[in-house]
Amino acid sequence: MSEALLRLDRVNTFYGPVQVHFDLSLQVGRGRIVSLLGGNASGKSTTMKIILGLLAPRSGTVEFDGARIDGWPTHRVIRAGIGSVPEARRIFPLMSVRENLLMGAYGRADRKAVGEDLERMLTLFPRVAERINQRAGVLSGGEQQMLAMARALMGRPRLILMDEPTMGLSPLFVDRVLELIAEINRQGVTVFMVEQNANLALQIAHEGYVLQTGRIVLQGAAALLRGDPRIREAYLGGAAAA
Ligand SMILES: Nc1ncnc2c1ncn2[C@@H]1O[C@H](COP(=O)(O)OP(=O)(O)OP(=O)(O)O)[C@@H](O)[C@H]1O
Ligand SMILES: [Mg+2]
Repeated sequence: MSEALLRLDRVNTFYGPVQVHFDLSLQVGRGRIVSLLGGNASGKSTTMKIILGLLAPRSGTVEFDGARIDGWPTHRVIRAGIGSVPEARRIFPLMSVRENLLMGAYGRADRKAVGEDLERMLTLFPRVAERINQRAGVLSGGEQQMLAMARALMGRPRLILMDEPTMGLSPLFVDRVLELIAEINRQGVTVFMVEQNANLALQIAHEGYVLQTGRIVLQGAAALLRGDPRIREAYLGGAAAA
């Protein structure tokens, strides 16, 4: 794997007395698309929370670009260059599409560059551009997903985290969102995405990790993982079968 931009090392995470991660270690190489796969309740979204500083690991370390970021508050993690497209997108439904996009640039002082980035997003996401003055809540699921991606990119992240980006989308939008993730990556953004649907994720990912009840049970190049029967076994063997 290429040089790591993100590295988790022997992370153990708890919700109260319940342990969710068991010595979780993984790496996301600079410029790569890496997918974290796994069935329901395997600890995927919690991994995102750990990286974003929304939850602190009880032990273990998180490094971004060589710096230890575990223990940092979320705003500092984001300022360091990590963007997030959360589970179920979390757009601001009562705000306009434009206001949602500008929220992604919150804290940036370079107004001119923000304006340029907004233009760039409207070119990259024409469906979002068509709806720029509408309230975000009226957008379809696929459009909201694109808006959430564009909003995250407005912060100029070096690493973008995506939690189940294709969840609940119609097949047409699933393909479009996957294409856009690959395009964002080609433009230089490293991608770490959580997916339940291994077949979809491995279409665009370079590497994958399979999580089963908080433990990595399988990892490797996407080309090798594609069609590997052990993925199915890992899902079915989890606490809650997918
Ligand atoms: N805030 C919380 N408090 C207590 N337990 C939680 C909390 N959030 C998640 N959990 C539990 O931690 C485990 C891992 O949850 P997590 O959301 O990380 O799984 P996931 O792999 O993202 O699942 P899904 O595919 O359903 O999104 C689950 O057993 C879940 O019930
Ligand atoms: Mg989840």
